[in-house]
Amino acid sequence: MVRPVPPTLSAEQIRDANTRYHDVAAGHYDSKWGIDFGYLGAGQVSSKVRKALGGQPRRYERALEIGAGTGYFTLNLMRAGLIGQATCSDISPGMLSTLAENADRLGLTVLTQQADAEQLPFEDESFDLVFGHAILHHIPDLPRAFAEFERVLAPGGTVLFAGEPSRYGDRLAGYPKRLAGAIAPLWRRAVGARAASQGDGADEEESLEKVVDVHAFAPGELEAAASGAGFTDVRVSGEELLANWFGWTNRALEATAEPEDIPWAWRQYAYRGYLLLQHVDRGLLESRLPAAIFYNLLLSGRKTG
Ligand SMILES: C[S@@+](CC[C@H](N)C(=O)[O-])C[C@H]1O[C@@H](n2cnc3c(N)ncnc32)[C@H](O)[C@@H]1O
Repeated sequence: MVRPVPPTLSAEQIRDANTRYHDVAAGHYDSKWGIDFGYLGAGQVSSKVRKALGGQPRRYERALEIGAGTGYFTLNLMRAGLIGQATCSDISPGMLSTLAENADRLGLTVLTQQADAEQLPFEDESFDLVFGHAILHHIPDLPRAFAEFERVLAPGGTVLFAGEPSRYGDRLAGYPKRLAGAIAPLWRRAVGARAASQGDGADEEESLEKVVDVHAFAPGELEAAASGAGFTDVRVSGEELLANWFGWTNRALEATAEPEDIPWAWRQYAYRGYLLLQHVDRGLLESRLPAAIFYNLLLSGRKTG
């Protein structure tokens, strides 16, 4: 696909890097990405599902998440009443154990299963929905993974993915990140924050981060991956443009400071500003501009039968 696996790394090494990177990240993943399991999170994931399908979702009784991480999508979809029995799969045991803790805290029951997306340990036709968020771009062999999604889906079942980086959007997001890098010392002085110290595992995390993302997609490529596996009614759309520029700039600034030094007022500004711009993207831009220029792509399709 777009950004092919770097020639120096085999698919096996990429899977291993993903496992190790996400095992290290599992403990601070939710706070780093502002993951919410309340009213806001349920609203966010429901809106993504609606956008991906291009209409109101039905309830799916048997749902499988691929690359479920700490449970952002599954747990929020359960709270929103959109899925019944949930199986959460991920290549990283660390992420799955944080997910299990989150589910316990929220009083939700889910099955967790360590699994590589390209080799799912599930029976044929055992789910009504196979879905994921921010996962496809980590998978070395996408055709093989889509063939697995098709195999485990029941006839008439739905495949749905959100939060996949678009190639163009990914490039655009590079500008705010570079800007943030340049102004970080000034920003830290202005908010009174010390430069971040390198904690245990920070070096390993940083070096693994460079190799875990293996694709950024053009909408047609994502569509072809689903159609190539036999899915019909395939639909690809885009979301988040202004919100992403704002979000990436702020996240890149925050990453340079000691977390406890970042003032509450700044966090409120970053959080509320992001939500406001998401609103502007949704209301004004997403229905008017081509999917390719947005940062995130969403995909849905149906298994025939
Ligand atoms: C960016 S995180 C997204 C997590 C979660 N879906 C979310 O949106 O918060 C990507 C997840 O995919 C998992 N992952 C990476 N490669 C994978 C693979 N080949 N098979 C299954 N899961 C994988 C990682 O362990 C990680 O939990």
